[in-house]
Parts: sequence; structure tokens; C-alpha cells
Amino acid sequence: MAVPPLLLSSLPSLLVVLALLSSLLLAGRKARRGSATWKLPTGPAKLPVIGHLHLLGSSLLHRSLWELSKKHGPLMHLKLRRDPVVVVSSPEMAKEVLKTHDLECCSRPSLLSYSKISYGLSDVAFIPYGERWRQLRKFCTVVLFSTRKINSFRDIRKEETERVTKLICSQARASTMVNLSELLLSLSCNMTCRAAFGSGFDDGGDIQLHDMLNETQEALSGLFLSDYSPLLGWVDRLSGMRSRLERAYLKLDSIDQRRIYYHQARLRQQSKEDGDVLDALLRMQKDEEGLTKDHIKGVLTNIFIGGTDTSSATVEWAMAELIRQPELMKRAQDERSQFVGEPHVFDPERFMHDSKEADGQDFKLIPFGVGRRICPAKNLGMLMVELVLANLLYSFDWHLPPGMVKEDISMEEARGVNVHREYALCLMATKYDASTA
Ligand code: HEM
Ligand SMILES: *[C@@H]1O[C@H](CO)[C@@H](O)[C@H](O)[C@H]1NC(C)=O
Ligand SMILES: *[C@@H]1O[C@H](CO)[C@@H](O)[C@H](O)[C@H]1NC(C)=O
Ligand SMILES: *[C@@H]1O[C@H](CO)[C@@H](O)[C@H](O)[C@H]1NC(C)=O
Repeated sequence: MAVPPLLLSSLPSLLVVLALLSSLLLAGRKARRGSATWKLPTGPAKLPVIGHLHLLGSSLLHRSLWELSKKHGPLMHLKLRRDPVVVVSSPEMAKEVLKTHDLECCSRPSLLSYSKISYGLSDVAFIPYGERWRQLRKFCTVVLFSTRKINSFRDIRKEETERVTKLICSQARASTMVNLSELLLSLSCNMTCRAAFGSGFDDGGDIQLHDMLNETQEALSGLFLSDYSPLLGWVDRLSGMRSRLERAYLKLDSIDQRRIYYHQARLRQQSKEDGDVLDALLRMQKDEEGLTKDHIKGVLTNIFIGGTDTSSATVEWAMAELIRQPELMKRAQDERSQFVGEPHVFDPERFMHDSKEADGQDFKLIPFGVGRRICPAKNLGMLMVELVLANLLYSFDWHLPPGMVKEDISMEEARGVNVHREYALCLMATKYDASTA
């Protein structure tokens, strides 16, 4: 079954979704402040004191910015925080920023929420460009994102996917709705956590994965007036935004603390070759000067959040698009019957390949970003999305819940750095039986 190639050639919506996912992270890139004064592009008329904040309205940030750019052009200056913000919305301008001027634009702004969630910009994703960033990023590549490492986690991916397939099977037999949003998040989280930290997401039961990631996304995407002016910090406190950020941080921190605690306890008994990503991080911390516990926690959080939210949201959107477009669903599943009677083991990983579309070569679709800060886990992300989606499509037929028509499937987006569905995707499944098809 060639679902992945089909996906990549005739499922533009998936790539649009990937592009949406990336849009806000990219919007977060920041120009390096030199001694020279910047010549800023023009933008909409701004108000005294609040600048352009009033233009964002109540819709989602990426939607508001897109609307504004249609009026004011692909390069537009906005005053939304202390430093000027330049919104880039055409492939040509994206190329200018992310390729021609990548070196000047490869740090992210030190916003209040970024800084909090990254333990004071002590991670890979939000740390300013420089020697420490290079060191941490290289580390991640060696222990997690290299082809050799990705291959070594193959059994984990397989086991976790099979576990979910079994789960859906039992729900199909019982004719209960499959909560895909919940299941996919848990699956990608377990895949990532097992590879990186040696065990699935098991938090002692007091932290709900979905709620926690929801809160983190809200916090990361919130517009804090403190970023606009320190004088307005009291507004963030009064509105409760500060305490929500603090709550999200405390949950992430308690998970990181616990992981580090368990790993440190057993580290002494291990040889250098043993262990998972966190073991390797702790060893590196012992050897490298200036590497603090906050760096360790920052990288942990990057892997945890980066590996969980992104790929599951992509599969969710893809399934929602497919159930709304039965023709596409049919094409995606057509080739299943070719395997009837063959001694065939379903193995979507053999389709893993670099996709030209997602490469960002033409700057039209840049789901993983471009340049020095490009997603270091691009191959892993693609693989997880393809594997999970291919399995869902191969093993099951999908139907709308009783009483629903396809127009009832909401495509509303939730607020966040990664663009999620606002409403969970719940569908009915029946087991696909190759021998009777
Ligand atoms: C479908 C899956 C994924 C998508 C669409 C995605 C997208 C992105 C994007 C757009 C960026 C910013 C790029 C830029 O600024 O140019 C990024 C950065 C990053 N991603 Fe991913 N990602 C995915 C999966 C993952 C996974 C599985 C991990 C880790 C396990 C991960 C870890 C990171 C990290 C650490 C960064 C920061 C890199 C840096 O600033 O140097 N991502 N990702
Ligand atoms: C699906 O799961 C999500 C996340 O756990 C939850 O918020 C939602 O209420 C669930 N939906 C249904 C219909 O069970
Ligand atoms: C993820 O792992 C946890 C803990 O091991 C387990 O309870 C949960 O069922 C797993 N989720 C899925 C979707 O397999
Ligand atoms: C988080 O949950 C709230 C309330 O359930 C919801 O309104 C909001 O859109 C969610 N945010 C994200 C990023 O999913």
C-alpha cells in the first residue's frame, strides 16, 4: 500500500496543515539587533500607546495576520510588543528572511512565555543563536534525530502503533466512538517518551496529558502585555494570564523533575553505552562546563512538547480532511486490496523518503521551517505522521458517528503555537479484513 506517496502528492490539505503548524513558530523568529537602525517596512496605521494590538481582534493570530497582510502586503511592520514585528507572508519574502538573511534572523524573541517555558531560554528551541544552541542541537541530533537513532527506535514505534490498533479494534467491535484526538496524542507522546526517556507517559495519574499540553499551547501563544511594556505587567496579572502561565510551567517542571530524579538514581549503575536520551543528557552535563540543570530540563521539554503535539495534530487534521472527502479517502485506501493473499507484512516505514513538497525548496510550503533553526526532527516527524496515518487507513474503515453528516465535522482551529483542532475528532471504525475485501 502506497499511502504515504499518495499522501504527499494528492493530499495538499495535509501540507497546508503542516504549514499552519509552522507558521506561528516561524512568526516567532526575530532579527538580530545590531548597532545599525533597521529600516522597517510600512504597515497599517497605528494607535498611540497600544500600537497595532487592536487590529488582532478576537480571531486566531495567524488568521488576523493573514487578513492584514492581504491589505498591507507580504512585508508588513506591526507594533505588537516592545521590539518591532515584521510579518512575512509570501514565498519570495520568506526566502529573503529564512535564506538570504537567515543569519540575522535565526533567534527567536525572548517573550515572557517562551522564556518561562524554556527555563529562561535554556533549551534548543528558544535559546538565542550561538555556541550553546549549536552544542545542544548537535546533541539532540546525535542521540535522537540521526538516521541511525531513528532506525533504532523502530520497534518502539511498531509496538506502540500495534497497541493502538488493538485498542481501536476493541472499540470497533463494541461499536463505540473512537476519540482519535485523545488516542493520537497519547500515541505520539508514548512513542516519543519511550524513545527519549525509556517509558511511556506515566505521570502518577495526577496530570492529564491533554489538559497539560492545552495549557502549554495557550500560554505560549498568549499575547502578554508585559512583552509590550513592563508598565503593563499588572494587566497580565489581573487577567489571570500570568497565573495560567505559571500553572503550565509548574506542571511541565514537575514532570521534568521526576524524570531527572529517576534517571539520576540509576545512572551510577550504567555503562556509557547504556541508557536513553535523558541518561546521555545527564552524562553530558557532568562533562561539560556551564551546562546547568535548566538546560537539561529545557531540552527535555523540547523533546516532550515537540514530539507530541506536532505529529498528532497533523494526523488529526489529515483524518478530518479524509472523512470530509470520501473520494480522497477511497483513493488513499484503494491499494489495500492488492495485498490479498500475499504473505505480506504491512510495513509503511519502507515508504520513508524525503518529500520534495515538504522540503521548503520553493518556500511555498515550509512545514518544518528553513535555515539554521529548521526542525531538527524533520525526518522523525514525517515518519511518525506517515506511519500512524498509514496504519489507521490500512487497518480500518472509518465512518461518521450515527446521525452526523460530513458537514458536521468542525474544522475550527484552537489557539496555540501548533494549530490544533478546537473540537476533538471522534469517529466510528470497523476492522478492515483484507481476506474478504
Ligand atoms: C510533524 C511534525 C513536526 C513539525 C511540523 C515540526 C515543525 C517545526 C517548526 C516549524 C520548527 C521551527 C523551524 C524554524 O524556525 O525554521 C520546529 C523546530 C523544532 N522542532 Fe519540530 N516539528 C515536528 C516534529 C518534531 C519532533 C518529533 C521533535 C522532537 C522530538 C521536534 C523538535 C523540534 C525542536 C527541538 C525545534 C527547535 C529547533 C531550533 O530552534 O534549533 N519537532 N519544528
Ligand atoms: C476526546 O478526548 C478529549 C481529550 O481527552 C476530550 O477533551 C474530549 O471531551 C473527548 N471527546 C469525547 C466525545 O469523548
Ligand atoms: C501510553 O502509555 C500509557 C502508560 O504506559 C498507557 O497507559 C496508555 O494506554 C498508552 N497510550 C496508548 C494510546 O497506547
Ligand atoms: C484548551 O481548552 C479550552 C477549554 O476547554 C479551549 O477553549 C481551548 O481552545 C483549548 N486550547 C487549545 C490550544 O486546545
